[in-house]
Amino acid sequence: MAHLAHDPNKQPDNLRTMQLASVLPMTASVVDGSLYIAGVNASMLASEYGTALYVYDEEHIRTQLSSYIKELRSRLGNADVAYAGKAFTCKAMARLVAEEGGWLDVSSGGELAIALAAGFPAQHVVVHGNNKTVRELTEAIKAGVGRIVVDCHEELERTDAIAAKIGVSQPVLLRVKPGVVADTHEFIRTGAEDSKFGFGLADGSATAAVKQAMKLSNVQLKGLHVHIGSQIFALDSFVETIFVMTAYLAELRDNLGFMAEDLDLGGGLGIAYLAADAPTPIVAFAQTISDAIIKSCEQNSLTVPRIIVEPGRSIVANAGVTLYTIGAIKELRDIRTYVAIDGGMTDNIRTALYDASYESVIANRANEPRDTIVTLAGKHCESGDVVAIDASLQRPQVGDIVCMFATGAYCQSMANNYNRQVRPGVVFVRDGKVREVIRRESYEDLLATDVG
Ligand code: LLP
Repeated sequence: MAHLAHDPNKQPDNLRTMQLASVLPMTASVVDGSLYIAGVNASMLASEYGTALYVYDEEHIRTQLSSYIKELRSRLGNADVAYAGKAFTCKAMARLVAEEGGWLDVSSGGELAIALAAGFPAQHVVVHGNNKTVRELTEAIKAGVGRIVVDCHEELERTDAIAAKIGVSQPVLLRVKPGVVADTHEFIRTGAEDSKFGFGLADGSATAAVKQAMKLSNVQLKGLHVHIGSQIFALDSFVETIFVMTAYLAELRDNLGFMAEDLDLGGGLGIAYLAADAPTPIVAFAQTISDAIIKSCEQNSLTVPRIIVEPGRSIVANAGVTLYTIGAIKELRDIRTYVAIDGGMTDNIRTALYDASYESVIANRANEPRDTIVTLAGKHCESGDVVAIDASLQRPQVGDIVCMFATGAYCQSMANNYNRQVRPGVVFVRDGKVREVIRRESYEDLLATDVG
């Protein structure tokens, strides 16, 4: 694929002058007006693999993951980072996580199957879900997963019974609702008492679950888990959660003699979707939460447990972009300009679902000023099928390649086949090279499950 790479002797124009720094993959550059990622020409990727296409900057993903691990271990010693596969997963991603020394958070039997197919070490897998099926629990326990995060009383009993049948003692964490309301979209808030996830602290159900788990002989209670929400900018809710949880761990030690080995704080760190967004960098996140853990453990005379975090979005979101081809432009005078792209709510449902916003450029004229305001509309049969509303773009022309930034998390993983649209492929780029990790679907794929 050398022909897609740029001439290393050419000096890149600086995309940062377009003020987009915060949303870009770290290796993005513009050479002779064309956008490159990891030294690979985005427009040429579009013609080679077709659009819509997800492109990931592999170096960016590795840097984010390794910096979480490094920054937490340097402050806390015993810490692990379980990448939340729900943000984006495939075999190549699972292998990358293993290579960087991460753990993996899976939230279904399907995600576990992908991890195992990739050869991901089961003992480093954390299994989530608020209604894991008997089949999912059985597969997880048989595979020897590192932790099952138990969400309810029924599941605790089920896990114990299945582990007994298999003849093992399964390490588990209990998911607790700390009663903290994170400042984010209500659809992705999970820490409040009114949440379908986990055991309540205030109503005593968490303590009842700890007592129950301590009695069971085929589960080993290793500690507690908490996840307050996603796309969180202000760190106060994380700090508040840490103080609530360490005080609770001290209470469990004093009242029940239970000593937690692990405290899993979930994911949730926010990222920049728009150039003006200013999320907390990973280093500052690690610093703030480590300080809070050390201080709150000291206050409660607790030994600092092993801390686990489960970031998803902040590892992959800005590493990923989506490439589309413009097929039609409708200028509605005094209303808006619709620019129709060859994808939409099937490859990015976040705008329709959460009012998400994105920054884009025209990849083949990326150095021109973004002086036009357009609405990027999908090709599906719904008026709500738009991926960017009133967004700045270079003056669009039919046939241009649009590169939409910050689409690496919860876009491919939430992709669907509405209108029987085939889902796009995924390529990883690194050091001027491209590798296809998920191929574009075909009509045969659509028909493969249609057995009538
Ligand atoms: N751990 C647990 C238990 C979770 O439920 C989640 C996300 C994470 C970790 C990772 O959180 P992150 O670091 O990615 O914020 N579809 C929504 C996001 C849903 C998040 C669900 N849970 C979106 O597109 O914004």
